[in-house]
Amino acid sequence: MTQEATVVAQMRQLIQLIAQHNHAYYVMDQPTIEDSEYDQLFHQLKALEQQYPALVQPDTPTNRVGGQPLSKFVTVTHAVPMLSLGNVFNKEELFAFARRIEERLPNQKIEYDVELKFDGLAISLWYENGVLVRGVTRGDGETGEDITQNVKTIRNLPKVLCDGKCKVPDLLEVRGEVLIPKSGFEKLNAENLAKGEKTFANPRNAAAGSLRQLDPNIAASRPLAFYAYGIAQCVPHHGLSTMSESLEWLEHFGFAVGERHFVCDNIEDVQQFYKQIIEERPNLSVEIDGMVIKVNDLKQQKQLGFLSREPRWATAYKFPAVAALTTVENIDWQVGRTGTLTPVARLNPVAVGGVTVSNVTLHNIGEIHRLDVRIGDTVSVYRSGDVIPKVEKVWPEFRPVDAVEVQLPATCPVCGSPVVMPEGEALARCSGELYCAAQRIETIRHFVSRKAMDIEGLGDRWVESLLHLNLLRDVADIYHLHEHREQLLQIEKMGEKSVQNLLDAIENSKKTTLAAFIYALGIRGVGETTARMLANTFQTLETLRNADVEALKKTPDVGDITAEWIVDFFQAPHNLEVLDRLLAAGIHWDAPIAPTRQPLNGESWVVTGTLSSMGRDDATQLLQALGARVSGSVSSKTKCVVAGEKAGSKLDKAEKLGVPVINEEQFIALMKEHGQIEG
Ligand code: IVH
Repeated sequence: MTQEATVVAQMRQLIQLIAQHNHAYYVMDQPTIEDSEYDQLFHQLKALEQQYPALVQPDTPTNRVGGQPLSKFVTVTHAVPMLSLGNVFNKEELFAFARRIEERLPNQKIEYDVELKFDGLAISLWYENGVLVRGVTRGDGETGEDITQNVKTIRNLPKVLCDGKCKVPDLLEVRGEVLIPKSGFEKLNAENLAKGEKTFANPRNAAAGSLRQLDPNIAASRPLAFYAYGIAQCVPHHGLSTMSESLEWLEHFGFAVGERHFVCDNIEDVQQFYKQIIEERPNLSVEIDGMVIKVNDLKQQKQLGFLSREPRWATAYKFPAVAALTTVENIDWQVGRTGTLTPVARLNPVAVGGVTVSNVTLHNIGEIHRLDVRIGDTVSVYRSGDVIPKVEKVWPEFRPVDAVEVQLPATCPVCGSPVVMPEGEALARCSGELYCAAQRIETIRHFVSRKAMDIEGLGDRWVESLLHLNLLRDVADIYHLHEHREQLLQIEKMGEKSVQNLLDAIENSKKTTLAAFIYALGIRGVGETTARMLANTFQTLETLRNADVEALKKTPDVGDITAEWIVDFFQAPHNLEVLDRLLAAGIHWDAPIAPTRQPLNGESWVVTGTLSSMGRDDATQLLQALGARVSGSVSSKTKCVVAGEKAGSKLDKAEKLGVPVINEEQFIALMKEHGQIEG
């Protein structure tokens, strides 16, 4: 054997061993070797790869594939939307779910596939000719982010599908959940604690934080795992007939699936298994927040179809809310971007359903009065699945004599400006506006965020240092940072490259859209959708700036209060000054089409299925530019549905309701007619 062949053979052996141990650990939940031995195997493989980089195997688990940090994630439209699930919370609701199915499939035998409901993040994986080529987050279900680099670092995930018993499909799209198993989570937090780094509140947050990292080396250092639960596409068709067979088929290709799943002949048995899993939950290797009940037969699934964004053939059977008793150590007031003061109860840390809770929002002073919660009180903290924990009840019988009643502070805890609470409003606010450091930092965070000016590099660390150096008094200062290059370079740990990356990101953000800019301004009540509506209605910043309440109220989505907030915003002299400085710095956008050309003004449209010439996002933007509202679901109010290839339930619903439907060709003709597309 040549030396090369020997090295390759060694690498192959190590890869195979590591895959075997991964299987034992993640799939069988029965580790066959010590963690340290596993690390050693990994280390050996890495060392070999370092020595012989030319021989690195394509399916190596050492995460060397594409190791460069990205500057931002690319948005991808899902070919098959990633839907959500309906919920049931008790036996009655579960039985009602089964009844609805039986009514639609009379005289058919119905089997249920019962799975764990993983409490992680849904992703979609594409395999082309058996090679993992893309990983995408669920996002809003229609579009997600391309996280391929991070996904490739997940150890228990096959990077290449082997041709064993079954033929490897030309295209396979697998859906499943990424999470950090309980043991890995504890280890990760213990390591972080030892290094003096921040620890994560729960495995879900840790997994989410890891997948959202632009640098794949960070994801690689976290013990992420993937559990498959479905097949979105398979070409040629897999020929399987049930859900449970699909899981086995996926396992055969090396995917981990839930450590428990059952097939039940009737819904009573499902209820039995649900009870059993509640008992077993603490011993499972992963966090779950319920069970998923699916009709087992794939043909029956197809017959049942979907109701708006949820399948009729599946539901989540959530675990009941869990509660724990603890005491309130303190109540702090946090200042938000628009100055809102939110009371936060600092609790004696307590485990509630597998999550340690130490802070809980009390929302506003009204809620404090309603609960009559005081510092020192014993309280019940509830948490239901992925819902944020809340204080449900105060126990006055355990109240210590020195319990302290909480008052709304008269001055802002951050800047000392007077706190105001206008008549009839529930929220108290700091009146310091941009004088207040808390509001300043939140305003900047919002301004640079992805859906606003999208300045990826300007993270919290930068913002804090820049505020400290007095280089950022308001958002317009961002566009003058290049004048202070020397000072930037002196900020601890900020090398030449990161300074340059930051300045480039700032420069690139100058070209934006009117809608993103309006959103970035952070006007109270103006979220992303309202900003888009305002941009469509007013077409130029100048017109919006001069609009009165009456004119503003004509915008879909804008009511009396928001209209007044918008007017107030454009009347405040310091806002106008910041605005002028932003424009003077060169922020610009393409002029939208002429205001007279809004032929679809106020109409509700729906885009569904796959369009061959553009993404659904593009079609949505074209429609919005003509004044239409683009909605995610069809109703009797829908003006028209644009249906691409493989349009499903939305098309059915439109047909049932008699809503007009046009195909891609007709849509393009319409856009040409209105000058949105050239030709
Ligand atoms: S099947 C058509 N199976 O739950 C939807 N989902 O609440 C099919 N989830 O976003 C989903 N474990 O990420 C399915 N065994 C499981 C699951 C599961 C967790 C998540 C999924 C989805 C969410 C819906």
